[in-house]
Amino acid sequence: MTLPIDMRAVHIPEPGGPEALRPATQPLPVPLHGQILIKLAYAGVNRPDALQRAGAYAPPPGASPLPGLEGSGHVVAIGPGVSRWSVGDAVCALLPGGGYAEYAVTNAAHALPIPEGLGLREAACLPETCFTVWSNMAMRGGLKAGERFLVHGGSSGIGTTAIQIAKALGARVFTTAGSAGKCEACLGLGADRAINYREEDFVEIVKAEGGADLILDMVGGSYLPRNVKALAMEGRLVQIAFLTGPKVELNFAEVMMRRLTITGSTLRPQSDLAKARYAAELETHVWPMIARGALRPLIDSEYPLEDAAKAHARMESSDHIGKIVLKL
Ligand SMILES: NC(=O)c1ccc[n+]([C@@H]2O[C@H](COP(=O)([O-])OP(=O)(O)OC[C@H]3O[C@@H](n4cnc5c(N)ncnc54)[C@H](OP(=O)(O)O)[C@@H]3O)[C@@H](O)[C@H]2O)c1
Repeated sequence: MTLPIDMRAVHIPEPGGPEALRPATQPLPVPLHGQILIKLAYAGVNRPDALQRAGAYAPPPGASPLPGLEGSGHVVAIGPGVSRWSVGDAVCALLPGGGYAEYAVTNAAHALPIPEGLGLREAACLPETCFTVWSNMAMRGGLKAGERFLVHGGSSGIGTTAIQIAKALGARVFTTAGSAGKCEACLGLGADRAINYREEDFVEIVKAEGGADLILDMVGGSYLPRNVKALAMEGRLVQIAFLTGPKVELNFAEVMMRRLTITGSTLRPQSDLAKARYAAELETHVWPMIARGALRPLIDSEYPLEDAAKAHARMESSDHIGKIVLKL
């Protein structure tokens, strides 16, 4: 296959607001040992991309400086040492960066087949949220059937995915969101109770039901002590972001007296091996959920690559429900 030398991309010449995302021509990346080159059809947009754009989330060493953590398309070249994929295979993949471009390289073990029943557009929205949700909710948080699970930001890309996977695991799902319309969407995805946090107190509601066995939180700040109050005996809190700040005063006696666990993680800086392990878990546990119709990405909107700034403005308005995609 003959490949071009250059490609269309969106880069960040200087950190800033959405307008910092600028169309550019960039050289095609070359797959190294263990990597594949994908001609992207679609790329998912995620909050961490906005953090990178603002200069607050640097790519790990060796990763593309272009934004973009996930995408879908076809394999067009293979580096040495790759046996699973062939040129022409349709894949969706977690990317170390570089998704806002026509071509991207990634570790071959971080790519997955397009799940049965989905097209490339929906598949592009899966990797970043599924890797994050499964590794934190199921693996780190240990969510089990019959447990009470609370996820904040239920209408976010992460939230819409967590609600569906938790239901598929047999949990009772509580979620918070900032409007009646967002709560409606969360109920439509299978949440048992959607709490409009502008009008209701999630601590009271969840405690009245016995407390949460597991909370997946991206809000942080004042939510930290409130999450601790909302947890059941031996409950677990998994922190995946701090939309309102990471520092807070907390009474750890509550943690001790109710034998709580507070943990968290961030995906991007983890090792290739850890991400390969998550990919294998997704293929075993989550891809069958998609095949039987229990999980489907909820897509809010689509923009052409060159309009990535508009996509970020929409994401930062927080008016969206579900995922935003870029069409290459
Ligand atoms: N740890 C990791 O590895 C990892 C990986 C991916 C993403 N993340 C994090 O997970 C979060 C969600 O990512 P995403 O891409 O799904 O983002 P997203 O779709 O943009 O969702 C963020 C949502 O958070 C809600 N929100 C904002 N401020 C809030 C507040 N003060 N209280 C309650 N909810 C609030 C908003 O909905 P409302 O209108 O309901 O407020 C918004 O829709 C981000 O913070 C991201 O950085 C972490």
